[in-house]
Amino acid sequence: MKMNKLNFIDEALNDLKKKGLYRTLKTCSQFKSSKLVLDGKELINFSSNNYLGLAGDPILKKAACDAVEKYGCSSTASRLMCGNLALNEELEKRIAGFKRTEAALIFSSGYMANIGVISALMGRQDVIFANKYNHASLVDGCILSRAKLIRYPHKDVVGLERVLKDTGKYGRRLIVTDSLFSMDGDIAPLPEIVKLAKQYNCIVMVDDAHATGVLGRTGRGSAEYFGIPEEDVDIHMGTFGKALGGFGAYVAGSGKLKELLINRARSFIFTTALPPSVIGSVIAGISILERDNTRIKTLNKNAGYFRNQLRKEGFNILDTKTQIIPLIVGGNGKAVQLSKFLAQNGISAIAVRPPTVPQNTARIRFSITAVHSKEELSYTIETIKKADKKFSIIQ
Ligand SMILES: Cc1ncc(COP(=O)(O)O)c(C=O)c1O
Repeated sequence: MKMNKLNFIDEALNDLKKKGLYRTLKTCSQFKSSKLVLDGKELINFSSNNYLGLAGDPILKKAACDAVEKYGCSSTASRLMCGNLALNEELEKRIAGFKRTEAALIFSSGYMANIGVISALMGRQDVIFANKYNHASLVDGCILSRAKLIRYPHKDVVGLERVLKDTGKYGRRLIVTDSLFSMDGDIAPLPEIVKLAKQYNCIVMVDDAHATGVLGRTGRGSAEYFGIPEEDVDIHMGTFGKALGGFGAYVAGSGKLKELLINRARSFIFTTALPPSVIGSVIAGISILERDNTRIKTLNKNAGYFRNQLRKEGFNILDTKTQIIPLIVGGNGKAVQLSKFLAQNGISAIAVRPPTVPQNTARIRFSITAVHSKEELSYTIETIKKADKKFSIIQ
């Protein structure tokens, strides 16, 4: 019998199905504020990162259209060719002002920012200390850099210090962490990390993807949340595709850092610059954030209500302090069943399973936004209580 060289694909798919890890795409045909239409059905949306509801804001939409009118639909080339539209520089100035850093550089996505920055700064002789639950893009950046990668236990500063003490033989040293963890909703102990970094002469990089526009009184991120000076963090990274309602990412820090990244970060150099529409809308989003923090306050109120109600009922939502609320159910199958039950009851919230999260901690990840109404949140809590009777979520 002739061997089919692609047989392994069937085997891999069957293996994923057997393990309850098989994923499929759902078709979303419309977003309507806190709702979405998924496979033809309108559901309350707890799956998006549109934390402030800016993605559908008329001011952002108009800014996107204005940018298209002025520049067209594409930036037509990489930044180092002719894709460096004035809009890029305007956004970079705005980000540096917002983050209170000397400079900022835009990347085409958060994934590209993380792999580009880490691989540009670190090499074979260097060592990186990474929180075990860091986002996949940070992990991939570390691997790409070829530096020695040491993953310390989640938020464990004692564990971090233990490995810092033991690694004097390397060249440059980088501590890298998510600030607001995307699957658990908890926050990295940034002040302690910064203190250790000073003591052990490490560069500090913080991924504020879920914290930008969310943490801190004015949404400037984790440094503002903890009240630590921005310059204590050498590299601030954040994304535009979440609270800012757009797409793309920034890296903020010193002017020299920016200069080096322009010359060395391969995911910056070898890719087409963001389209004008996206940059235009992100600038409008930053302006809204800088004008007032009403949306941030509403987000915090909504998330606080949802967390308190679930905790009061005895559900396990880990140590979340934010708008990302993981409802732990344990088994992969149960998480999928629960997600389906919620969908049947008009609620879209995704099941997150290993390897994205540790074994036996499959969960439903609720992502609360400023545009959810109190009624929608209460209805969802009641539905979760009903689901508990059916699936025994509380153990
Ligand atoms: C913590 C974190 N960093 C980076 C990224 C990547 O950002 P982007 O979606 O812009 O590629 C994400 C998610 O998408 C994230 O959750």
